[in-house]
Amino acid sequence: MLFLTIKMYFSTLLFILSISVAYSQDRKITSILNPDCNACTDFDTLLYIRADGAHDSIHQVWDFTRRTPTVIFLISSLNLTLNVTWNSETPKFTFSEEPKYSFAIAIDKIYEYNDTEDNGHFDDRYPQRPYPLNDLLWIRQDLVQSNNEVKLIMRAHHLNDYQKGTIEIKLDLLPYQDYAVDLPHLIHTSNSTLIDVNLVNLTCSEDYQASRFALHFLLVSTDRKNDTMNYTMRKSLDDEHTPGVFEIVEIVTPASRRRGVGGFLQFRPVAYTQPQRGVSVSTSAHVSHFNRTELRNDSTLKTFYRHFDRDNVLVQDMVVSFGDAADGYYKQQNYTSWSFTVGHGTPPKEGFSLFVIMIISIGLGIPVTLALSSVVYLVVRKYKHRNPPTRLLNDE
Ligand SMILES: *[C@@H]1O[C@H](CO)[C@@H](O)[C@H](O)[C@H]1NC(C)=O
Ligand SMILES: *[C@@H]1O[C@H](CO)[C@@H](O)[C@H](O)[C@H]1NC(C)=O
Ligand SMILES: *[C@@H]1O[C@H](CO)[C@@H](O)[C@H](O)[C@H]1NC(C)=O
Ligand SMILES: *[C@@H]1O[C@H](CO)[C@@H](O)[C@H](O)[C@H]1NC(C)=O
Ligand SMILES: *[C@@H]1O[C@H](CO)[C@@H](O)[C@H](O)[C@H]1NC(C)=O
Ligand SMILES: *[C@@H]1O[C@H](CO)[C@@H](O)[C@H](O)[C@H]1NC(C)=O
Ligand SMILES: *[C@@H]1O[C@H](CO)[C@@H](O)[C@H](O)[C@H]1NC(C)=O
Ligand SMILES: *[C@@H]1O[C@H](CO)[C@@H](O)[C@H](O)[C@H]1NC(C)=O
Ligand SMILES: *[C@@H]1O[C@H](CO)[C@@H](O)[C@H](O)[C@H]1NC(C)=O
Ligand SMILES: *[C@@H]1O[C@H](CO)[C@@H](O)[C@H](O)[C@H]1NC(C)=O
Repeated sequence: MLFLTIKMYFSTLLFILSISVAYSQDRKITSILNPDCNACTDFDTLLYIRADGAHDSIHQVWDFTRRTPTVIFLISSLNLTLNVTWNSETPKFTFSEEPKYSFAIAIDKIYEYNDTEDNGHFDDRYPQRPYPLNDLLWIRQDLVQSNNEVKLIMRAHHLNDYQKGTIEIKLDLLPYQDYAVDLPHLIHTSNSTLIDVNLVNLTCSEDYQASRFALHFLLVSTDRKNDTMNYTMRKSLDDEHTPGVFEIVEIVTPASRRRGVGGFLQFRPVAYTQPQRGVSVSTSAHVSHFNRTELRNDSTLKTFYRHFDRDNVLVQDMVVSFGDAADGYYKQQNYTSWSFTVGHGTPPKEGFSLFVIMIISIGLGIPVTLALSSVVYLVVRKYKHRNPPTRLLNDE
């Protein structure tokens, strides 16, 4: 009871602290929807965001115009301007000077696979069907463009004529460091964007009794073509922010691994099977190996990376799949929700919160105080014995 009261007290304190921190942004952000596009309608969505820091700018392009969900990061000096020119509704990009670095991700396909070994992992050996996302019609559900948040929610229905369902993608840029409000409480910073992917009520193929869905990612960076992205699974110190999940997955580009100036993806290997996220409705998220691949000619990524030397564009792919053994496959819940962050620099590390520090201090503090006070008591007693107070001496 006391514990709970203390926790509530400190949560309130933390909340007040975080509100005051929230408005001390690390970067100034500006965003434009479909910049300079005359032919664009409500069905075209390209959001350009510029985040200016003290020494550099991070430009982000969130693109759905070619229907493949794509997020591009470009790091440059504060002087660079990025212009978008349009050929009807197809964007092209020009830069006023040489950028420093760029990386990007795209979710170009969803795989439906028959998980014959029932472990949640995606495997090339399993029967599978790809559903390219550029066949879908993406509709803008929500758009927030303010000085302290840029948020976009996109939704598409139907995988094809026979398979119904909803795919929802939420992108959220909050230009200060904090834990995300929703589980698994990933860390967002002014250098990163938080992305949620929800697969809702997708119809499973009739011939796949063990049907699950997986996301196919393209990972691009302006590193040497023969280099490789790096996957690491790190153990965190505590599971305070994500109960029961101690692991953190980080995928970094070569420049990020070597010098901390590249791109990264960060997430917990956990997904949720209900809209109300909670520990009891969590399941595992699995990541495949990387493979080298090519960009499609008709993709925004191909258009964007034309500006760079071919040998200096690294393109790899990977598959993220969801589920645990004996969980009844996708059809058991008809819902999968997963979050990750994509950002620039070194992936942020979680620290102990004020609450944990208080508990540790109290836990360590009481024995230390006891030990110290007994030492002091002993020393004082010894001292008193050797040198009795002069007042008493005088009295004698
Ligand atoms: C940016 O432009 C200004 C004025 O044109 C110039 O003085 C400055 O050196 C430029 N900075 C960089 C990093 O190129
Ligand atoms: C970008 O557009 C602005 C205004 O339309 C123009 O002044 C500038 O020269 C353009 N920059 C590039 C690199 O195209
Ligand atoms: C899918 O997997 C289930 C369970 O392992 C199996 O019974 C079924 O035959 C598989 N279907 C196909 C098309 O491979
Ligand atoms: C963001 O990136 C800049 C370099 O571009 C770096 O100096 C800064 O520490 C990064 N901030 C965070 C919160 O990672
Ligand atoms: C998914 O199906 C459930 C149950 O039929 C329904 O309540 C829910 O609204 C559906 N969600 C979407 C996004 O269609
Ligand atoms: C999931 O959807 C299938 C139809 O695609 C339906 O048969 C099944 O009952 C649904 N499961 C839940 C838990 O709603
Ligand atoms: C990539 O190619 C360059 C030269 O083209 C070579 O110097 C470098 O060692 C190669 N790196 C790897 C990882 O193979
Ligand atoms: C990934 O990075 C870690 C730590 O920097 C390193 O130990 C590991 O060998 C790297 N893996 C690959 C495949 O390069
Ligand atoms: C990786 O590439 C190999 C060879 O091209 C291919 O057989 C395999 O299916 C690919 N794996 C994934 C996960 O894309
Ligand atoms: C892409 O374009 C290049 C030349 O621009 C061409 O050689 C190549 O065949 C095209 N690839 C596809 C898959 O169309």
